Amino acid sequence: MLPINRDKVLPGARRDGRAEEPVYPDPDSLDALRDSIDRKLGRTGAVLPLSEAEQRVLLELMPDELLRVTVETDETVLVVGRQRRVRVPAGPDAGQSTCGGHPGDSTAALYRAVGDCGKQLLSDFLATGEMQTRDLRVEEDGQTSFFELRAAACQPRGMLVLVRDTTPLRDAVDCLSQATEKSKRLHEMLEAEAVIRAEEEKIIKSSFEKLAGLKEDTIVAVTAIVRKKDPDTARHQERVSQLACSIGKEMGLDKDTVKMVALAALLHDLGKVFVSPSTLLKPGRLTPEEMDEVRKHADTEFEILKGIEFLSPLAEIIHQHHERLDGSGYPRGLTGSDILLEARILAVADVVEAMMSDRPHRRALTEAAALEEIENTRGTLFDTSTVDACLRLFREGRFRFDVTPPDECPGPSRQPGSPASG
Ligand SMILES: [Fe+2]
Repeated sequence: MLPINRDKVLPGARRDGRAEEPVYPDPDSLDALRDSIDRKLGRTGAVLPLSEAEQRVLLELMPDELLRVTVETDETVLVVGRQRRVRVPAGPDAGQSTCGGHPGDSTAALYRAVGDCGKQLLSDFLATGEMQTRDLRVEEDGQTSFFELRAAACQPRGMLVLVRDTTPLRDAVDCLSQATEKSKRLHEMLEAEAVIRAEEEKIIKSSFEKLAGLKEDTIVAVTAIVRKKDPDTARHQERVSQLACSIGKEMGLDKDTVKMVALAALLHDLGKVFVSPSTLLKPGRLTPEEMDEVRKHADTEFEILKGIEFLSPLAEIIHQHHERLDGSGYPRGLTGSDILLEARILAVADVVEAMMSDRPHRRALTEAAALEEIENTRGTLFDTSTVDACLRLFREGRFRFDVTPPDECPGPSRQPGSPASG
């Protein structure tokens, strides 16, 4: 058994640096020594009773090469291993083996490198009495290899040197280091990208908010114009917007769709400001010509709104608010699902509000009568689920005109100068 331990002085070596007479097993028999180590590593079943920890230690100590290094009296260094013997001359020729391997022989290069530092290893061991460790770098034929040496004297001028090839470990560490560096750089790039994206998102969000604000400001301005010219129509639009918004929410539509319907409702009769007051306020029945004039309001407001880019989505909804499921509506006689859902909601809210309000040619219907009317046209003129949502809101007492609408619904309370806002 080899007394190899990093922290202990080998028997036969004194701490004062002077070697005593050797008391070690004869190291001439390297093969026997190797066999001894092999057995300790578990090759022979007889040593298996070793604990797992002991086996680990032995495995850790297992060298790739076991060399005997002897500093001869003429100061040459002889390195003997399983594979060859290499003699490194003393003096200025040191490092040039006299019987090493041919160029490109990495084993010979290792032996020469060990021989080069043999005298220093021995000297340091004798001075300290401690096992010597060295990291060795060997260049051969363009290849770089790394080794870890552990050396202890076994004779006054002889050492045993355990050599471990750490090149794979170094390669692994280098790979890991490069991968870590790449990963770090990638991480930095991603972080920079995330910052840029966050900035872009902020700008886009801000632009959307500005656009949304501009849209609502424009709608408020237009409804103010309508209110000046025709207060009844303006009030009708505001009440229709309240109801349309509540119906949309009752139907479970998303917030943006509900808002779109409510905004469209605020402008849906804008075109009526271009209808002559004598026709609009006529107490009696309208002539076919007068009816045509009134019906033109849908096309008129569409023409106005479609030219304003950020209001164009509302234009199509508004254009369809007099269309009916059975095709009897105007201006295009659309049917069924060809009519936008938002327009179907707007249509129900428009008609219900109109029936519940006084008009020049008739008095308002009671709530019950108006609801019965709309219920009777459920699925024929008006969208079934929209009518159902509207009926539920009224009959369950969850909606009343001119009651402050839910926050997400733009309404009269948000419009400066409107009656509701004082
Ligand atoms: Fe209308």
